[in-house]
Amino acid sequence: MPDFPAGFRWGVSTSAYQIEGATTVDGRGPSIWDTFAREPGRIVDGSTGDEACDHYHRHAEDTALLAGLGVSAYRFSVAWPRVQPTGAGPAHAAGLDFYDRLVDGLLAAGVDPVATLFHWDLPQALEDAGGWLNRDTAARFAEYADLTAARLGDRVKLWITLNEPFIHMSLGHGIGTHAPGRMLLFDAFPVAHHQLLGHGLAVAALRARTASPVAIANNYSPVRQVGDTDADRAAAQAYDALHNRLFTDPLLGRGYPDAPGLDPAVIHDGDLDVLAAPIDVLGVNYYNPTGIRAPEEGSPLPFEMVPLDGYPRTAFDWPVAPDGLRELLLQLHDRYGDALPPIQVTESGCAYDDVPDAQGRVDDPERIAYLDGHVRAVHEAITAGVPVTGYFVWSLLDNWEWAEGFTKRFGLVHVDYPTQRRTPKSSYAWFRDLVRR
Ligand code: FCB
Repeated sequence: MPDFPAGFRWGVSTSAYQIEGATTVDGRGPSIWDTFAREPGRIVDGSTGDEACDHYHRHAEDTALLAGLGVSAYRFSVAWPRVQPTGAGPAHAAGLDFYDRLVDGLLAAGVDPVATLFHWDLPQALEDAGGWLNRDTAARFAEYADLTAARLGDRVKLWITLNEPFIHMSLGHGIGTHAPGRMLLFDAFPVAHHQLLGHGLAVAALRARTASPVAIANNYSPVRQVGDTDADRAAAQAYDALHNRLFTDPLLGRGYPDAPGLDPAVIHDGDLDVLAAPIDVLGVNYYNPTGIRAPEEGSPLPFEMVPLDGYPRTAFDWPVAPDGLRELLLQLHDRYGDALPPIQVTESGCAYDDVPDAQGRVDDPERIAYLDGHVRAVHEAITAGVPVTGYFVWSLLDNWEWAEGFTKRFGLVHVDYPTQRRTPKSSYAWFRDLVRR
């Protein structure tokens, strides 16, 4: 493995609802994921995040795992319904106490706390008032950011406003496979704009409370055009605008791209200035490229997704394409030039069906190969001049993977859910050795 620049940040990522459990403890309010997971047929194994990895009670053990890994940073998310159980009103002290303990434990272990404010667990009370379709949710989000930073702003080293607003819009509100389960297709555009407005307002709120850098974590997927007709080209462009540009162009001062579903009536005077509040870091979550061709006649979508041949595949059936990460980083650099802040890869990882052997060891050579390829891709991008300053593996622990429940294991550490026993996999040792160098 080639050398990385001094100060490069190595980390791992998790999110609140996927690991914490304790969903009714210490006054936490319900979130849209508590509601959604209880609806029959939503989660493949019928599970919920009620217990997840019980990280709420085992955070000290998990912090010790981070220390053993030697990472310089840990990206977790704050559960909004712990801080404001109904999404409004004063801070709920008992909820913030948990993150206080976590952050202090991380600092004592020499690990920088990196906090995401919204990783999809919207308080149910806000959903009942329209959720992200309601412009007021953006203002509520900024208020929550303020309350959280008032408590943790002196110790969190990097703030991330939103996690993957594209996925929350498309899966949560476009096709309904994630909470809150709405099926609005392109009528989901207000969810994009209100999340980005909330991001901009939260950036201002954070700046007033802390000198730490502020970021957003976007999901990106380089588009592989399948077919060579004008219609295929138009389809690839439409998908690229939606997935890769809608949540980035306006943040970097370009305004919205010409993307399907865009509704100018939702955008009020002055909003674009709020959205373009400068950020210090662009978080990039990357898993795979997307194959796109022209849709069949009569399709409700202006593109069709097609599986990409010729790649190994993960247990999620996602293609393993490290070259896609290099391509994406170069594309961001080309596209935005000087407007592009330093990038940190805030999620990168893979699911495999990891099973302990007779000795209890978990050997996961595919994950090692996956990470090796993706870390090398980042290095190639840096060598080509892209400012990348960090790389976070998704995820520290096997955890509750949204609609896939407990069926997809992404961790460097295996979790036996009935006993909550943690077993570092061979990829944990591999990543530890990489970080140590
Ligand atoms: C990302 C999510 C994260 C996890 C990984 C596998 O889209 O941000 O919570 O589910 O995918």
